[in-house]
Amino acid sequence: MPATGLPTRTLGRTGLEVTTLGYGAMSLDSRFGRTVSQDEANTVLNALLDAGVNFIDTSPDYGPSEEMVGKAVAGRRNEYVLASKCGCPVAVEPGQQGHVYTPANITAAIEQSLRRLQTDHLDIVQFHGSPSRAALEEHRAIRALQAAQQAGKVRFIGMSGTIPNLADQIALGVFDVFQIPYSALQREHETLISAAHAAGAGTVIRGGVARGAPSEEKAWDIRRLPEVPDERPRTLWEQASLDDLLGGMTRMEFMLRFTLSHPDLDTTIVGTANPDHLRQNLDAARKGPLPADVMAEAKRRLDAASK
Ligand SMILES: NC(=O)c1ccc[n+]([C@@H]2O[C@H](COP(=O)([O-])OP(=O)(O)OC[C@H]3O[C@@H](n4cnc5c(N)ncnc54)[C@H](OP(=O)(O)O)[C@@H]3O)[C@@H](O)[C@H]2O)c1
Repeated sequence: MPATGLPTRTLGRTGLEVTTLGYGAMSLDSRFGRTVSQDEANTVLNALLDAGVNFIDTSPDYGPSEEMVGKAVAGRRNEYVLASKCGCPVAVEPGQQGHVYTPANITAAIEQSLRRLQTDHLDIVQFHGSPSRAALEEHRAIRALQAAQQAGKVRFIGMSGTIPNLADQIALGVFDVFQIPYSALQREHETLISAAHAAGAGTVIRGGVARGAPSEEKAWDIRRLPEVPDERPRTLWEQASLDDLLGGMTRMEFMLRFTLSHPDLDTTIVGTANPDHLRQNLDAARKGPLPADVMAEAKRRLDAASK
């Protein structure tokens, strides 16, 4: 265990040593939270590096996020593994919606990310939007990312993958890293995380605190859960009586430690623009996985409540 007290894991075949608590920089985009000033971004990004967190995930799709990260911590570039994405509309006709996996759009995204993040290399570039094998093959998208790798602009290639395409993406055997959603309240990808790990890839877990929705403070604001736009997470929490298992933990500590209990997780990129939440998440991450009996009982209750 490093002096920071933050556990680390090897990110699959990349060989990179990453803290199990990483950072999701989507929280710097006002569409996914409140408006965050550059000063606030400087505070939270430097605080997380000071605490020893060494993995930052961002995307061309997250408004000012990449530029803010560049301005705040480009001077500390050797202290973090930097992941961004491609397929986001960068070099496309104005008004075009959705992800585009042409070589021109992929290359333009990488060049833009390098400029915005003030760096000469991205450690990981992940395909955004979980494209199917057919969508990747249509424009030889993987080859475009591998060309950037050969040019030294990208070290490892990854996929932000979800059902129904994730199993097939793992079977392709070309991705070094998979970014996958998972939490106590969203367990659909639980076994696919293990499949990605078994295939030798690194696993980057997103949504690990369910956007803070269960917290006392956010009180199940379901607008915070755009991927699951209904009452299911709250119903699941209540039907499983998870409050009875807290034993002095806050709901957020329980949520984060549940996610960290997945045996095949390498890092979970929790987003926050709030230094207090960062401190709470650091404390939870230092405690590590939930006690085995609490985890087993939580899963038993969640399974029963999901039937
Ligand atoms: N398709 C994709 O590839 C994709 C999609 C979504 C996200 N992502 C990546 O994954 C990262 C994380 O995803 P996410 O933001 O959806 O999920 P998340 O990490 O579960 O949730 C982040 C939200 O939780 C709140 N939060 C964090 N710690 C908290 C605490 N201790 N107490 C109360 N609230 C807390 C934050 O609000 P405060 O600012 O108030 O703390 C923030 O809005 C993103 O930043 C992004 O990098 C990728």
